[in-house]
Amino acid sequence: MAVVGLGTMGAGIAEVFARSGIGVVAIEADPQALRAGLGALDASLSRAVSRGRLDARQQAEIRAKVRPAPGFADAAAVDLAIEVVPERMEIKRQVFAELDRVCSPDAILATNTSSLSVTSIAAATKHPSRVVGMHFFNPAPVMGLVEVVRTVLTDDSVPTAVVDLARQLGKTPVGVGDRAGFVANALLLPYLNHAAGLLETGYATAADIDKAATAGIGLPMGPLALLDLIGLDTSLSILEVLHAEFGLARYCPTPLLRRLVTAGRTGRKVGRGIYAYPDGRSAGPIGSPDDGVDVGSAGVAPATVTVIGSADEQEADLASALASAGLNVTRNAAHATELVLVVAEAGQPVLPAALAAGRAGQAVGVHLPGGLGPGALVELIATSLTSDTAVQAAAALAERLGLAVVRAPDRPGFLVGALLYPHLADAVRMAQDGYASAADIDTAMTLGCGYPRGPFELIDDAGAADVLAGLRAMYIAYGYPALAPPPLLAEHAAAGIDFAAARRAEPRPASPGLARTGPVR
Ligand code: CAA
Repeated sequence: MAVVGLGTMGAGIAEVFARSGIGVVAIEADPQALRAGLGALDASLSRAVSRGRLDARQQAEIRAKVRPAPGFADAAAVDLAIEVVPERMEIKRQVFAELDRVCSPDAILATNTSSLSVTSIAAATKHPSRVVGMHFFNPAPVMGLVEVVRTVLTDDSVPTAVVDLARQLGKTPVGVGDRAGFVANALLLPYLNHAAGLLETGYATAADIDKAATAGIGLPMGPLALLDLIGLDTSLSILEVLHAEFGLARYCPTPLLRRLVTAGRTGRKVGRGIYAYPDGRSAGPIGSPDDGVDVGSAGVAPATVTVIGSADEQEADLASALASAGLNVTRNAAHATELVLVVAEAGQPVLPAALAAGRAGQAVGVHLPGGLGPGALVELIATSLTSDTAVQAAAALAERLGLAVVRAPDRPGFLVGALLYPHLADAVRMAQDGYASAADIDTAMTLGCGYPRGPFELIDDAGAADVLAGLRAMYIAYGYPALAPPPLLAEHAAAGIDFAAARRAEPRPASPGLARTGPVR
């Protein structure tokens, strides 16, 4: 096989094939890019050796499978060529014109495009029936998903062969239609864009946004770190394609992304994006002096505290955890204490309860999206009347209880919900509109993006009614169409059925060669 383009993804894809014992012609005309790509391949293999996953002999064998080539001539004998060049249609078309000229007419020509139309790429070739999308996820050696994109021009045998090949490579293929962003990127990118927007508008710090996603939702990376991993330039290109295709504000790239790309801060690959990466490791966010400062570090924990709120069970749990930690705790708002903790629910504002307690300056909202427990996340909510001292005191208490702390404004969803609810609504809308099944969406997000549970499993865990209530509160507050609760979610909430139950009832037509039956058309 041949890989055309040896950037981050190209090198990773070459490694995936070579690890399966398949010889790879690595076509890269730019000597500097070739050196960098082979360097990335060597680093990845060395890491596997250092972790005991490969021995030195296997490393040498895999490395020997990858043969660099400066031009297309070496692709003449391959059965499959995958294009992994930058996301610009004119470059893709040039590559396919060359492959069309050089490769045998039986060879499959695949594109790893993240969002561009595979049909448009295919239509510009002499044999469009052999053109297919074979979309890997970064880091390609690690992520288990391959989206197989077929167009109306693709011969039936081609996706079947690509599906078999993906399985041979140890990946899970999901068949998807040729629509911008396919399944995973069409969901992931608006979520990442929204997170960048929260940073840009000062809603929360970079460190808190990423911590909310990892400690609060359980995702393997925060959205801002993930933007840096994918590359801000690649992310911007995908968003532009999504925005051109679907026209919704949620896809419109947040200005911060464009500015960072213009400034050359394109992410991890250049050592600078939203975060800085001296020596390849993250050294925290660039730019904002207070980003990444742990709110817990500066405060002094009080000795007396009042715990009030509307979430009865959590209120009792928190009061007893604080009492066990040696605090003098009361649940009577009339008692004079140093700090008032208002245990909040995601859709409910903190301020009315803080005002009712009569000590709004000392009142801090507390939201525990996953309940109490070691390492659980607590969102500390400052109203417009809360003093900084009160937030710092609450943070010091949370630290004493072993909780991870983020700060959030007193707005619907606080921080975790503000990130998660619109993302879940996008997933529901995608299923509701027949774009992909709930099962395929969950598979795409777990295997492609490392989610511990897919969006529909997350809804089932939280309860459709709670997600609906959170979204409704956000929609009322902001009025953006993307926040309007999708009818399918409202139906599940009203009927009290979870998506897993609906999924079990879904018809699963046998689709030749596809492990999961995606909407291959
Ligand atoms: N190349 C090869 N292997 C890598 C790697 C890389 N760049 N980065 C990590 N790994 C390997 C490690 O060697 C390690 O392997 P072993 O378990 O065999 O030792 C394993 O991955 C876990 O790595 P770490 O322990 O260092 O780090 P981690 O546990 O934090 O996991 C991660 C790192 C796999 C990247 C994880 O954070 C994750 O899943 N993140 C989400 C990534 C994601 O969403 N990708 C999709 C982006 S969208 C896309 O790519 C599509 C597009 O078109 C833009």
